[in-house]
Amino acid sequence: MNQLLFILLITLFAPQVLPYSYSGKLTSDSFLIGEPEQVALSLGSSPESCVVSWVATAVPNPAVIFYESTSSDSDTGSAYYAEVFVEGGDSSIGYASLFTENRCGTTRLMSSVYIENCSQLPAGYKVRNLQTTEGSGADKFPVNDFSDLFCGRIPGTPTSTTSSSIALVADMSDYMYSPGEYVSSIPAMTEAALNGEIDLVIHGGDIAYDIDDDCGRRGDEFMRTIQPLSTTVPYIFGVGDHEGGRKDLSLDCHAQLGYDYEGFRMRVGEATNAGQMIMAHASGSPTSFYFSFDVGLVHFVVINTNAWIHACHYWMLPPQMMWLSADLAAVNKSRTPWTVLIAHRAIYCVKNDDSECNTESEAMRYGLPELAYKKNINIGDWNGEVKGQNNVFGIEEVLEKYGVDIVFGGHTHHYERSYPARDGESVQKDYVNPEGTVFVVGGISGVGEDAFEKEYADFTAWRDETYRESWGHLNCNSTHAVWTQRLADSGGVLDQFTISKI
Ligand SMILES: *[C@@H]1O[C@H](CO)[C@@H](O)[C@H](O)[C@H]1NC(C)=O
Ligand SMILES: *[C@@H]1O[C@H](CO)[C@@H](O)[C@H](O)[C@H]1NC(C)=O
Ligand SMILES: *[C@@H]1O[C@H](CO)[C@@H](O)[C@H](O)[C@H]1NC(C)=O
Repeated sequence: MNQLLFILLITLFAPQVLPYSYSGKLTSDSFLIGEPEQVALSLGSSPESCVVSWVATAVPNPAVIFYESTSSDSDTGSAYYAEVFVEGGDSSIGYASLFTENRCGTTRLMSSVYIENCSQLPAGYKVRNLQTTEGSGADKFPVNDFSDLFCGRIPGTPTSTTSSSIALVADMSDYMYSPGEYVSSIPAMTEAALNGEIDLVIHGGDIAYDIDDDCGRRGDEFMRTIQPLSTTVPYIFGVGDHEGGRKDLSLDCHAQLGYDYEGFRMRVGEATNAGQMIMAHASGSPTSFYFSFDVGLVHFVVINTNAWIHACHYWMLPPQMMWLSADLAAVNKSRTPWTVLIAHRAIYCVKNDDSECNTESEAMRYGLPELAYKKNINIGDWNGEVKGQNNVFGIEEVLEKYGVDIVFGGHTHHYERSYPARDGESVQKDYVNPEGTVFVVGGISGVGEDAFEKEYADFTAWRDETYRESWGHLNCNSTHAVWTQRLADSGGVLDQFTISKI
């Protein structure tokens, strides 16, 4: 489809979202800016490039009076800059924007620097913020000290012999309500990254529990905890149900749409077209809800599965599915022979009698019943059959058409994996030249468990009924994809299976 038409359609479908930018006129002493923290690497728009992002606290200076800016091209937002200094190399300069949360009014200085060639990151890099009082031509001077020196690396340009090593987690926090409540996978993954065993981390939703809580301070804490990991390898965030910005997304969705996903979108750079959004835009996506990227021989796609669950989110389905088909159709399988979809809510799962692994997973798999979609009925309130109801926006059709190898999800807090499956059943009982997609549920990377209350389904290959916290470690070469589910507490192996295409 014509790209302009595509963007036009997306714009038509997207509802009006409240603006995020700070509207006061800024001067050099408008805010008291803290030190750089929560430093994280992300992918850029090419295999050689990367993005470094960080956060600094921003407290309004009581000695300064603000007034509303009237001109749209005033110097608001350009008063602050971000600088990354790479040892033995150059400085790269990017923007820093003050972001005030609608919900709480707390302000953070969000910094993001795009670096065209990241091959020198292992030599060490450090970050700080700069400030200017006048327009863009004025001198810039530092507002905070340089951070510590970090050593990072990005996966880089794949070659035909590249293997890829990726960590995949979902449903993971670093905070416990009671001591010993669970073991988080963060320390084990950090060690693996420092030892060179993983090239990138994908967190498929439910981040920090919750990233928005306590006016975003829960998210700040989480980002500080992962810093040794997120400064070493890129850390990519997908959206889950807990990123919605409210405890219950189904309540009063329309009225509060402006607050939807606010904390998540702020942290991934959507408000400022920075951070992770640089990679998302490079994949043709206008949003942080769905995007794709390649690591070595694997094409990863992330989607927002809340779109199938809450009637007030159904508007996301047409643009998301249109983008997904176009993205998968463009994959060159000789460059990236493996395709992995990250979908927070599990599409094939077994749990209990509630709607999650029944009507909800079926609505994603086969599509929403047309009536539920047209009449804006939450799928959880749908009483009849899901399959065979003139279903719209089914994911499985797309998985089949474009040969998606693995779907990774969480949402239900345990580990289970399927045989290659299709149409609700296994298509074979091994992983040799699969004729279906393999579904891995790993929503227990750092959270308490959900018990399995039902027997194995026909598609279930194995599940962990001891509910040990774990993280996925995927290694792919041109013919084999080895999935190892590692234990959070010992680094030992909980489960392993190999998909081969020979
Ligand atoms: C990146 O920088 C390295 C080291 O300076 C250089 O060898 C390499 O050619 C550069 N890559 C690109 C794509 O510019
Ligand atoms: C697909 O990738 C291969 C290997 O990099 C390349 O030779 C080929 O030209 C690509 N095909 C298309 C249609 O771009
Ligand atoms: C690919 O990985 C599999 C499984 O680890 C291994 O047996 C095989 O030798 C590897 N192939 C190549 C070309 O390295």
